[in-house]
Amino acid sequence: MTGILGIVLIIPIIAYLVFAEFISRREERRYRTDIISDLPTLSSSTPSSSESTQSSQTTASNPNNLSWKGWRDMVVDAIQDESPDCRSFSLRPADGELMPRFKGGQSISVRCKPSEEADSPKPVVRCYSLSSGPGEPRYRITVKRVPDGRMSRQLHDTIQAGDVIQIQSPRGHFHINPDYPERPLHLIAAGIGITPMLSMLLQSLEETPNREVHLYYQLRDQTNAPFLKPLRYLGNTLAQTGKFQLHVWFSRPIEDADSLTDSALDRITTGRISAAQIIERTGSGEGDYRICGPSVFMELMATELIQHGIDEASVQYESFGGKAKGPGAIAVKNSGASETDELKITFTQSSCHTTWNDPSVSLLDVADDAGVNVDASCRAGQCGACVHRLIKGNVRYDEQPECDFEDGEVVMCVARPETDVEIKA
Ligand code: FES
Repeated sequence: MTGILGIVLIIPIIAYLVFAEFISRREERRYRTDIISDLPTLSSSTPSSSESTQSSQTTASNPNNLSWKGWRDMVVDAIQDESPDCRSFSLRPADGELMPRFKGGQSISVRCKPSEEADSPKPVVRCYSLSSGPGEPRYRITVKRVPDGRMSRQLHDTIQAGDVIQIQSPRGHFHINPDYPERPLHLIAAGIGITPMLSMLLQSLEETPNREVHLYYQLRDQTNAPFLKPLRYLGNTLAQTGKFQLHVWFSRPIEDADSLTDSALDRITTGRISAAQIIERTGSGEGDYRICGPSVFMELMATELIQHGIDEASVQYESFGGKAKGPGAIAVKNSGASETDELKITFTQSSCHTTWNDPSVSLLDVADDAGVNVDASCRAGQCGACVHRLIKGNVRYDEQPECDFEDGEVVMCVARPETDVEIKA
C-alpha cells in the first residue's frame, strides 16, 4: 500500500521536473536564437523586398533526403559587404523547394556562367564554406575578392541581387561534433577563414546552447575584419552566460583604441595568435579544435597545439585551396608508401608528357608542376572543378571523391595513377 502511494506521489513530481527542464531549455534556446537573429550581419542577410512575399523558410530540418545531385539554380537573394574586400551572398533555390539543413563548416561548390570578358568559355567552379547557420532560411557564402581570382572577381564585380548562380548540395567532413556538448569547442580562424567557424558557432549556439565555445580570430586590423562587429556584440551579450568568448588578435597596431571600449576590449590583443596563448586562456586546453585560414597558419597552429599536448584526434583544419596536410588534417591521406614505379602521365590537350612516382602527389599536383592549366578549388574531391576525361589508364582514390563524376572521368585532385594514364587536359 505504501509502495503504491509512493508511486502515485512521485509520478507527478517527476513529470513536473521534466516539464520544468523542457521549458527552461526552450527559453534558453529562444533567448539565444533571438540574440542571433537580432544581429544584422551574423545571421543571413535580409531577403530583398521583391522576395518578401515568398516563404522565408527554405531549409528543412531533415538533412537526409533533401540533398541533391548535380547543379541547382539559386537566386542571389541579398548581397552584403562584410569588409572592404569580403562580400556575402544569400541564396535561395530558384525552384522554391526546400534545401537540406547542413552541418556548420560544410561547403558548397558554386558555378557561374563565364562573364562576357572571360577568356575561357568554361564555367568557373569554386568551393566556398557556408557562413550561415544550418538553421537559417537561406544559404550564405562570404567571398573575399582576390585580384587574380576569376570566380571572386566575377561574384564581386558582376553578380547582382536577383541573378541566378548554380550550386551543388553542401558537403564536407570539416564540421563540429555536437554529440559531446560537455567538451569545450575551440574555433580558430584567420581572415576569411572565419566563414566555416561562423557557421559552426551558429550551429553550436542553436543546438547545444550550454556548450562552452571559444572563437580565436586573427585579423590584420579592425578595418579588414569580416563579421567582427556582430561577433563582438554577441560576445558581450553572452558574456553573462560564460558560454561564449571571443578572443581577437590584430597583427597591426590598434589605431583607434577608443572605438574598442566595450567589455570585449581585454580580449583584443596586438600580435599573433599562438597555441600557448590559447591554452593559457582556457586552462586545461581540453576540447575540440577546428582551424581555418591560410595553409601556413593552419599547419602551424595544428602542429603547435599537438606539441602542447592536445590530442591529435581533436584537431582538424580545413584544407581548401592548398596542399595542406598534417596532423589531424582533412586532406588526402597518404597511402603510406614513399615511392613507387615511375608511371607516364600525358595531358593530351596540352601535349604535355611527364611522370609520376610519389604516392603523396595527386594528378592535379602533377599537372600544376608541369604547368598544365587545370581548374581547381577545394583540392579535396568535393567541388568537381578538377574533373577531366580519363582517356587511358586506371587511377585510384584513397577516399572516394564526394563530387559528381562519371565513368571515364577522373577527379584529379584526389587521384593517384595505377598505370600510365592519359588525361584530356
Ligand atoms: S579541386 Fe575540387 S574536386 Fe578537385
